Amino acid sequence: MTFPTTRLRRLRVNPLVRSRLNETSLSPDRLIAPLFVRPGKDTARPVSSMPGQYQFSIDRLLQEAKELYRLGIRSVLLFGIPEKKDLKGSDAYAANGIIQQAVRALKKSIPEMLVITDLCFCEYTSHGHCGILKPHPQPLSLRERVAGGRVRPQSFDVDNDATLAIIAKTALAQARAGSDIIAPSGMMDGAVKTIRNALDRHGFEQAPVLSYSSKFSSAFYGPFREAAESAPRFGDRRSYQLNPANIEEALREVAEDIAEGADMVMVKPALAYLDIIRRIKETWHVPVAAYNVSGEYAMVKAAGAKGWIDEEAVIREILLGMRRAGADLIITYHAKEFAAMSNERRSK
Ligand code: PBG
Repeated sequence: MTFPTTRLRRLRVNPLVRSRLNETSLSPDRLIAPLFVRPGKDTARPVSSMPGQYQFSIDRLLQEAKELYRLGIRSVLLFGIPEKKDLKGSDAYAANGIIQQAVRALKKSIPEMLVITDLCFCEYTSHGHCGILKPHPQPLSLRERVAGGRVRPQSFDVDNDATLAIIAKTALAQARAGSDIIAPSGMMDGAVKTIRNALDRHGFEQAPVLSYSSKFSSAFYGPFREAAESAPRFGDRRSYQLNPANIEEALREVAEDIAEGADMVMVKPALAYLDIIRRIKETWHVPVAAYNVSGEYAMVKAAGAKGWIDEEAVIREILLGMRRAGADLIITYHAKEFAAMSNERRSK
């Protein structure tokens, strides 16, 4: 007697059975669209390394947000490009800074839109680093010491505690403007606690904090730095962002942020770090956001434009993978096109 070997495939036999057994779902309300805002009127400057993304003036930002909302994207993450940059990034915490203006306009025009504000200084500082700089003597090589050198004068590092002071100011400025969620992304120690204290002391006990807890020092941020005009003028971010090789250190960052009062945590980038999302989800029971970053977007767009991949199918698969890894929310530049794709499918 012979037995049919078909077992697992019975559950995939036809679309009726298959679609009832979908374990992971993906809908536009899980997506957060990042948006860039700059001074001016009636402008939408394309970002060349991110086809489909723009730096919007506030009036055009409102149009875009309305369109997103209509398509089913109910959350946005705002980044500002200020008129003027300076050593401390003071536009970030000015009551009338670009982000504060954008948040007020957005909450007024679409109150139902969830507005998340990125809290960092690299877009606002003249040097492009994520905080206030202090001189940082580097150890000398043996040869330099033999030659009589003492310190290398030209090196700088971000001053953690000086930066905390402007982080508190910025969180308050954003909350006062009406931001629904504050998202610190600078990887400074103690940022979440500093923000929580500042918010609580000024009547914003209800404002949640979404911390970019495990943010890796990644080459995938390249296109974003064009979009946000935020590339560091010298050096890199390795003294504050995480080493891509380290899981334990990433988990420690998350533990610390949760202890300091983070309501949600983020993993960034997402694609090369799905294991981190899963580990966080299995360890803590907090909402986790994945940031599908600019370089991940640019790769898909470039290959799609060449006809080397089925772009829509790849987008769906990537976002699904992030959900499957455990992400509750996904910040993605694909948000709009994904929502448009889903609406189209539904109307077929
Ligand atoms: C600010 C910030 C960065 C990104 C989000 N917030 C850039 C960086 O750290 O260099 C990158 C997002 C992306 O690549 O899409 N610190």
